[in-house]
Amino acid sequence: MKVKRISLLFVLAAMSLALLPACSSYDGQPAINSEPIAPNQILDFDTLYAQNCAGCHGGQGRGGAAIALANPVYLAIADENAVLNVVANGVRGTSMPAFAQRAGGMLTEQQIDLIASGIFSRWGREQFLDGAHPPSYAAKAAGNVDHGQLAFGTYCATCHGSEGTGTAKGSAITNDSFLALVSDQGLRTIVIAGRPELGAPDWRNNVPGHPMTDQEITDVVAWLVSRRAQNPGQPYSPVNHAQYSEKQDANQH
Ligand code: HEC
Ligand code: HEC
Repeated sequence: MKVKRISLLFVLAAMSLALLPACSSYDGQPAINSEPIAPNQILDFDTLYAQNCAGCHGGQGRGGAAIALANPVYLAIADENAVLNVVANGVRGTSMPAFAQRAGGMLTEQQIDLIASGIFSRWGREQFLDGAHPPSYAAKAAGNVDHGQLAFGTYCATCHGSEGTGTAKGSAITNDSFLALVSDQGLRTIVIAGRPELGAPDWRNNVPGHPMTDQEITDVVAWLVSRRAQNPGQPYSPVNHAQYSEKQDANQH
């Protein structure tokens, strides 16, 4: 019995040792001499960014599953209010979460402000696009789908294929799973700012070697959006279902 008790003590000791670092450290830093900080008291941009954003937008804003925020082209065209709004409320239908407490997130208004303004002050370069006449962040007019298809052929097809199904130089961007998870503005942002971290050109540097016009960008996005399935991931979308019922009817007769 004695042997058993010793081993039990040993297990308990080992367990408490294993738990110790988790209790006494905050954010990987030993808490010796420092009080743990409550999450809503963190007012340091780097910590807030690392804890909430880096998982998707990459360390130092360099990009990951989601776009690089430290992209000078992006920061030159992005609207500070729009960024604040996205961080607070998320982007519906995509994996971009809402962070404001009022929208069900974990961050205070102060923290949201700090992150949104920090992105620009830390990574933005104000004069970056001087003289380049950048397109507007949000679309100014309705897009024309047919013109968009033509523009896609001119500017994008070399890398993404004429139907957007992908080539060795660029992935598929008209498939259901991609289009279902990206917003219209998300597409516009990528067309304007590129994904330099992945080799995707910005609006100035597509294949013909001249910049796209604002309207061409709007049209290309309209064409991509027109390819989005109404009920992504649903084999029994109304259209498919109608066809399926017709077949069933035909079989029964
Ligand atoms: C779970 C992944 C995820 C996390 C975490 C996340 N994002 Fe995002 N974010 C996305 C995706 C995906 C998009 C693109 C949404 C779309 O299609 O419009 C996005 C879009 C954005 C945009 C808008 C880009 C544009 O088109 O103008 C901003 C700004 C942004 N995120 C900032 C942040 C900040 C700041 C944080 C941390 C507080 C954060 N994100 C955390 C996934 C994430
Ligand atoms: C020189 C080749 C090239 C051209 C031209 C090009 N792209 Fe891309 N594009 C890429 C690469 C490389 C990526 C990033 C990796 C990938 O998705 O293949 C990318 C990514 C994208 C993405 C994001 C895909 C994702 O998975 O996040 C979209 C959307 C996109 N491009 C749209 C366009 C549109 C619209 C045009 C034309 C206006 C265009 N691209 C022109 C090479 C190109």
